[in-house]
Amino acid sequence: MATRRTNPRSASRARDTAPAPTSVNERRADAFRLYPTKNDLAESTRREVVELLNARLADCIDLETQAKQAHWNVKGPSFIALHELFDDIHGAVDEYVDLIAERIVQLGGIPEGTVGVVAQRTTLIDYPLALSKGSEHVAALSDALAAFGRAVRMGIDEMTDLKDADSADVLTEISRGVDKWLWFVEAHQQ
Ligand SMILES: [Fe+2]
Repeated sequence: MATRRTNPRSASRARDTAPAPTSVNERRADAFRLYPTKNDLAESTRREVVELLNARLADCIDLETQAKQAHWNVKGPSFIALHELFDDIHGAVDEYVDLIAERIVQLGGIPEGTVGVVAQRTTLIDYPLALSKGSEHVAALSDALAAFGRAVRMGIDEMTDLKDADSADVLTEISRGVDKWLWFVEAHQQ
């Protein structure tokens, strides 16, 4: 059964209340320092942007693994088309992961992309393991792409509000790509 993961905002609240000494949140609190940089964006802006980008990084890494899961497990008459499409999506999403992570570093932050952090923080629904038909994978992966696309589009507005046009631009590039992949996947059911 699909489950929704902890939302990054509640994870942040949990960190503020009673983190266990060895929890992922505690390690994150230790890690949540900014490196000094001559980048002229205000430190308060960079701090907020880094936290928001780390939330999207978790979603993006989750989406990347979901595309591979679909690539490996799809079966049926459209096998080769979907098998190759899902691998193309995996490759593109891997590039989006790098774009987000390296933007975080440029702002003096630490990208938090370990499996443990991603599993706790992703807002995507866990990919169902028992799917085999092409139509099932098309439905599941288009759900994941659409959910990530929505989060990234909200992120563009957040970056614009924070007056970080370059992070907004990074997310806009990713949003444009995700919209294209959603079209490629949804075309199989239209
Ligand atoms: Fe492969």
